[in-house]
Amino acid sequence: METIGVGVIGCGGMGRSLANSAHAVEGIEVICVSDLQEALAEKLSTDLNASYVLDYHELLADDRIRAVLIAAPPFMHAPIAVDAANAAKHVFSEKPMAPTLSDCDAMIAAAEENGVKLTIGLVCRYHATHSAVRGIVQSGELGAPACMMVHRIGGPWRSGGSYVPWRLERAKSGGSLMEINAHEIDFMRWTCGDVTSVYAAGGQYVQEESDYPDVVLASLQFANGAIGLLHSSHISAVGGYGGRVDCEGGSIYFPQTWGGNATIQIKPFEGEGRQIKISDIEVPPPVQEEIRVFVDAIRNDTPPPITGLDGRAAVEIALAAYQSVESGQPVPLPL
Ligand SMILES: NC(=O)c1ccc[n+]([C@@H]2O[C@H](COP(=O)([O-])OP(=O)(O)OC[C@H]3O[C@@H](n4cnc5c(N)ncnc54)[C@H](O)[C@@H]3O)[C@@H](O)[C@H]2O)c1
Repeated sequence: METIGVGVIGCGGMGRSLANSAHAVEGIEVICVSDLQEALAEKLSTDLNASYVLDYHELLADDRIRAVLIAAPPFMHAPIAVDAANAAKHVFSEKPMAPTLSDCDAMIAAAEENGVKLTIGLVCRYHATHSAVRGIVQSGELGAPACMMVHRIGGPWRSGGSYVPWRLERAKSGGSLMEINAHEIDFMRWTCGDVTSVYAAGGQYVQEESDYPDVVLASLQFANGAIGLLHSSHISAVGGYGGRVDCEGGSIYFPQTWGGNATIQIKPFEGEGRQIKISDIEVPPPVQEEIRVFVDAIRNDTPPPITGLDGRAAVEIALAAYQSVESGQPVPLPL
């Protein structure tokens, strides 16, 4: 198998995860890592027996590197991705794709113009619960989906690894609807299809540190007639991550997405239901899998399964939700 050389840009929490995961995938060599913070880049490069640079442009000049994994903050995804594509590198960018649609469009255009692959790290597509729920809906065994609800709720960011300045600014992070809920928005769209309008309510109640709403209830109208509700919150002392899909012939209920004895319940109106223990669903390590699939697309010259347009669609839905919170009106798509 042809070995693909990769570079990793951004060596914070997710950059480390991407680099370690890439290192574990057969047929990938992590050649160089880059971060503005030398200590982070040096430590990761030592762990992986790679080199490091502070200026990512030096990494892009290395001919052995065919693809980059970008894990800088969201507002840096577009400038780095465009530079990488112009240097003929294939691009894997972390979610959210970018905080603005013009940045998303610049990334898509640069990849097209340079004939390189572009994918976005919407890794939940490789998680057990998300892929199982979507698979059951798509199989049609419960009929067409009518209503999908997902909640991902928790307390305010006041300390810990997530409490970094860029995450508190919407212009840099995209706000929680992008920085966190890019995953849930993509999950809902992946399961129920394209969204035609968004009607959202929200406000800022507890997390004063950020400059965006700390709770949003966003209702989505899907093109196929189904409806959806995303509950995004930093004001929930009792947190959780789960949801349900009610279809014309029955329901799928996943009160907890991960952990312990969590189950997915499948209950048709007619006949017996069943439960799937989530830990019994065998999936490869999700971050390794998203990278393996991306590198396979490079090797086979096929489109990556998650495209720039998928990343852009999640950004557009989040932007529409913020617009709707501000205007109090439903926001039709496309923006
Ligand atoms: N897929 C997931 O589940 C998941 C989880 C966490 C984070 N993320 C995403 O990963 C990205 C990074 O998040 P994080 O938690 O690792 O943040 P972080 O702040 O820990 O790390 C970001 C790093 O990027 C570096 N950086 C900034 N500008 C740079 C530049 N020009 N060149 C090189 N390095 C630069 C910073 O110095 C920092 O070390 C975000 O887009 C975030 O949404 C994804």
